Amino acid sequence: MVRIVRATQVELEAAVQALRDGELVAFPTETVYGLGANAQNPVAVRKIFEAKGRPTTHPLIVHLDSPRYLHRWVREVPEVAARLAERFWPGPLTMVLPRAPNVHDIVTGGQDTVAIRVPSHPMAQQLLTAFGGGIAAPSANRYGRLSPTRAEHVRDELGDAVRVVLDGGECQIGLESTIVACDNDGVRVLRPGAVTVAQIREVVGDRLIESSTLEAPRVPGSTPSHYAPRTPLVIVPAGEIDARAEAASQGGRRIAVLAQRLPLKSHKYVTWINAGRRPEQYAHDLYANLRTLDKAGCEQILVQAVPDDERWDAIRDRLIRAASSISDADDTGATAVLP
Ligand code: TXA
Ligand code: MG
Repeated sequence: MVRIVRATQVELEAAVQALRDGELVAFPTETVYGLGANAQNPVAVRKIFEAKGRPTTHPLIVHLDSPRYLHRWVREVPEVAARLAERFWPGPLTMVLPRAPNVHDIVTGGQDTVAIRVPSHPMAQQLLTAFGGGIAAPSANRYGRLSPTRAEHVRDELGDAVRVVLDGGECQIGLESTIVACDNDGVRVLRPGAVTVAQIREVVGDRLIESSTLEAPRVPGSTPSHYAPRTPLVIVPAGEIDARAEAASQGGRRIAVLAQRLPLKSHKYVTWINAGRRPEQYAHDLYANLRTLDKAGCEQILVQAVPDDERWDAIRDRLIRAASSISDADDTGATAVLP
């Protein structure tokens, strides 16, 4: 059961004060926990990059409590973006839009666009409303690692770099937001998420530019893997998971498995998690499951390939990026080179 709690007045005041002081605040959203700073304070925003170990060329998402101050951040709102905002905000959708001139380069990576999201989590809403401005926030993990879906993940990984961690329990969705780029040409999906391509198409129709026509990545640089555990992760065809676990654990090698069912027989050296067949539950648990398996002292994590239907798109995307052997994409989803 997901526990969504509200922050106390004392916690909220401490978080707002930290933001005003140019310090970092971690907060829950319905997708994953964010590592926030006052988006109008470039010195504070720089601390995000330092805490994460993230290159400053990777731009951040500006979080707002509602679209009412959008014009402070965005030069012009394309008509398709207005429709998407109306349908999906507050919620797990980020829109990359033409930036307003006063938005700091440290937030946008010097690009002519800015990413904006209005999260629905009550505690994120409380914080944004009480602060009254934009909060720049990436996921609150070290660069390239698994996104945090619980407050304790943030404390474990970032510790003292964060002045306040607001604890909202487990994130309801568990995977990062869908990112779309909107301009006068139409809408492109840069990263799949809980808002599906079919839902976006319902709203914007033929203004959706299919991903096969994606251009080169908008974000410079690429990393060998992303959303990744430390233990090497390999995706295995669904029907082969038992046989592969058995073969890999020969000679007493410890192997971890993330599957969608129970093992056919018990494998001696295998730590097996059955994450089930429902995509919402699988996504909700994914990063926590990978953290658990990462700590199990295994040589390899074998992941049973997920079904080929659209409800699994965001999960499949993150698994491919986490797989050490096959992914060389960066974290926007913009490369369109996924196998
Ligand atoms: O669910 C989420 O989106 C979470 C929560 C905290 O809101 N945030 C998140 O942020 O996942 P982050 O920084 O981990 O991922 C955002 C992605 C990055 O890959 C970044 O490069 C891309 O968005 N991005 C940000 N601004 C962009 C822009 N102007 N153009 C293209 N990509 C952009
Ligand atoms: Mg991230």
